[in-house]
Amino acid sequence: MNLKLETLTKIDEVITHYPEKRSATLPLLHLIQEDVGCIREEAIEWIAQKLGLQPINVYEVVTFYPMFRRQPIGRRHIKVCRTLSCALMGGYKTCETFEQEFNTRAGPTEVSPDGEVTVEFVECLASCGTAPVVLIDDELHQKVDCAKAKQLAAQIKAEAKK
Ligand code: FES
Repeated sequence: MNLKLETLTKIDEVITHYPEKRSATLPLLHLIQEDVGCIREEAIEWIAQKLGLQPINVYEVVTFYPMFRRQPIGRRHIKVCRTLSCALMGGYKTCETFEQEFNTRAGPTEVSPDGEVTVEFVECLASCGTAPVVLIDDELHQKVDCAKAKQLAAQIKAEAKK
């Protein structure tokens, strides 16, 4: 499996935190999903081998937790904060705008029909004073009301056509 060197280093380090190697299953799944975007069969087998488990043991964890994706998400990842300040300032409407713009539903495993975006609700993005806040890939956008959400959606669509 093709993991970044940084991920491999973290994995080896994380395993040392647990007296029983199998307890590192969850953190390893998170690290791999962060690196490659989803958990494929090869990741399950790789983790099982690394931790001395059967693939079924890892598979059970993957299917139990909804945050693990078996398929890649959209090319762009839109995370809309739904915690108190953002919710009060219209975060839900902001999210709805993205859903409508890309004809999709918010959810960690949902992908818009064009494969372009995954829209997801997340908890506080630590910028509560500038609510509602949206993180698109690694870029934070503040005071994203419906009009600004439409602008950002248009920008993503324009970039997709390039
Ligand atoms: S409540 Fe949304 S950033 Fe903190």
